[in-house]
Amino acid sequence: MLLYLMREQYGVTSDPEKYREILQRSWDYYSPRTDHTYGSSLGPAVHAILACELGKTEEAYVHFMRAAMVDLENVRRNAHEGIHAASGGGLWQAIIFGCAGIKFTDDGPVAIPHFLPGWTRLKFKLQWRGQKYEFDLNPETSTQTAQSGTTISSSSRPPGSPAQIQGVIFDLDGVITDTAEYHYQAWQKLADEEGIPFNREANEALRGLSRRESLMELLNGRSATEEQFQEMMDRKNKFYLELIKNISKADLLPGALELLIELKEAGIKVAIGSGSKNAKEVMERLGISDRIDSISDGYSVTRSKPAPDLFLHAAQQLGLEPAYCVVVEDAGSGVEAALAAGMWSVGLGPVERVGAAHLVLPSLEGIHWSNLQKQLAGNRLIPC
Ligand code: BG6
Ligand code: MG
Repeated sequence: MLLYLMREQYGVTSDPEKYREILQRSWDYYSPRTDHTYGSSLGPAVHAILACELGKTEEAYVHFMRAAMVDLENVRRNAHEGIHAASGGGLWQAIIFGCAGIKFTDDGPVAIPHFLPGWTRLKFKLQWRGQKYEFDLNPETSTQTAQSGTTISSSSRPPGSPAQIQGVIFDLDGVITDTAEYHYQAWQKLADEEGIPFNREANEALRGLSRRESLMELLNGRSATEEQFQEMMDRKNKFYLELIKNISKADLLPGALELLIELKEAGIKVAIGSGSKNAKEVMERLGISDRIDSISDGYSVTRSKPAPDLFLHAAQQLGLEPAYCVVVEDAGSGVEAALAAGMWSVGLGPVERVGAAHLVLPSLEGIHWSNLQKQLAGNRLIPC
């Protein structure tokens, strides 16, 4: 227990390898000598945490249940004297610091989960240094949070480290500029004219999809001849072009330009990977074409997101291996495409939408390249 309380001094953050060695030795010595059943009621919860850190999830589960049953089942036969509040607190810590493996880093809390046998999800909120963090972890996409409102997932990590990233591939609509909103408005207008029920919520399923696939979603099984289909796509695009005709540099989303400038300074290559056939036009209007090394758009590949093709095309244009690229996306289909391409991924928006990304941020506002790399690197803290 003392080691648990003094783990910072023993290098849990500064020298995890040394800490683990000390922990293992202490465990081997003290655990067999500890009365887990009738000794301190705090013991089981603390042992559950330490067992998690040692990767002994079966043992962690036994200790966790022992701690949980102290009052639930009155296993110590003394609950009539009052509940074991400290043990309850220990139990909370067992979940948060043991199973979810929360560590507090300079960049915020990071989760290094150790799922106990049979556990499928850990969802909780934390408040730390005045900031709120939300975690939604599961064994496959064990998610880690590194900054207020941000989430990192350890799913399908590319080999190597984020420090090796040499290229950033930005989606355009909803990442660099808020044309995602104009796509929605144009689809809404088409749906209204056609008398098809549609709203913002339904539009979420269209995010990132090609024009054709979006219309298929919108029609939701309604039949249309190819000619009618084409006409509707053209009509929607006409509405869309009307909406974007006045966009300018002022329509860049907060943080986008600053990040592009930083990337250039850092010698990082930059591509656009957008499924839109209007991408080049939008880029011209935004006045940032000269800040980009290449544009892959709706004409570049046949299969659209969530297929990896567009991002692979972009990486090829940059002359980079996928594992050295990171994709910035606002769409679930885009994150899926990035993962399928074997790239790092940053999702912008709610966890429900882009939670599969390695790192989830509310937006690019205030985001710096070095921080982004560090946050992505947060999930290099592999479970012991
Ligand atoms: C994507 C948007 O970038 O481009 C989608 O997220 C859009 O909403 C798709 O449907 C295709 O765009 P366009 O301009 O070719 O119709
Ligand atoms: Mg987008």
